[in-house]
Amino acid sequence: MKIGVFDSGLGGLVITKAFVSTLPEYDYVYYGDTANLPYGDKNAKQILSYTIDAMKFLISQNCEIIIIACNTATSIALRFLQQNFIPYYAPDVKVLGVVIPTVEEALTDDTTVVGVLATNATVDSHIYREELHKLKPSLEVVEIAAPDLVPLIESNNFTAADLAAKKYSSEFKSIDSLILGCTHYPLLKSSFHKYLPERVKIVSQDELMGAKLKDYLTRHFEIDICLSRNKELKVWVSKYNSHYQEVAQKLFPNVIIEEVKCNA
Ligand code: DGL
Repeated sequence: MKIGVFDSGLGGLVITKAFVSTLPEYDYVYYGDTANLPYGDKNAKQILSYTIDAMKFLISQNCEIIIIACNTATSIALRFLQQNFIPYYAPDVKVLGVVIPTVEEALTDDTTVVGVLATNATVDSHIYREELHKLKPSLEVVEIAAPDLVPLIESNNFTAADLAAKKYSSEFKSIDSLILGCTHYPLLKSSFHKYLPERVKIVSQDELMGAKLKDYLTRHFEIDICLSRNKELKVWVSKYNSHYQEVAQKLFPNVIIEEVKCNA
């Protein structure tokens, strides 16, 4: 059995890299729904339907544990999947998201204001605010949607993305931490470090998810014992583009990307 990772596109490969670096011995299957990217501007029904198709595909690939690396899919679909889909479709499979592990990292005893930068759908769901308030009800949470960042990063326009990061940084006043709540934003981490005051903690999922998964597997021996360990990585996308190979090989030099149609 394998570890599945799902994202709306290839951004989640950055999170996969964190998993592979921390837990190199396991086998991973990645699925990026590039045919339907971006999710951030889709409605909840569409995001849920794409995410269910992705779960079915990863389960068909023998994934015992699936991490939804996409913040948007986590925000909209995770709770439904855990409560209404997985228990009936594949009760032995565990599906986890990125929001709760991220929220845990954003707080210290002194934190009073947290900024969240994410897609439209994630911000509209207010999932980050809700989960942060569960841990610290007095917290001020400033959520800002950045719909232009994913297209700029996807089109490799890092000059414009850097300028956009500058603009968003100026909109966050007096924050203690900034959650980069989208798989693509770790690629702009250096811009946020440049434009935000040094005391602001930037919470980037590529830096935390590896340790979180390791900790989860240590606490869930019943899952860990089922996982195969051949150091394999298989990357699937729902729509192939030769440029993807280049992007993926920057992170995983020998990886081959293949296309699969799994939307119903
Ligand atoms: N992967 C998505 C996320 O983490 C962002 C890209 C999209 O809009 O599909 O929220």
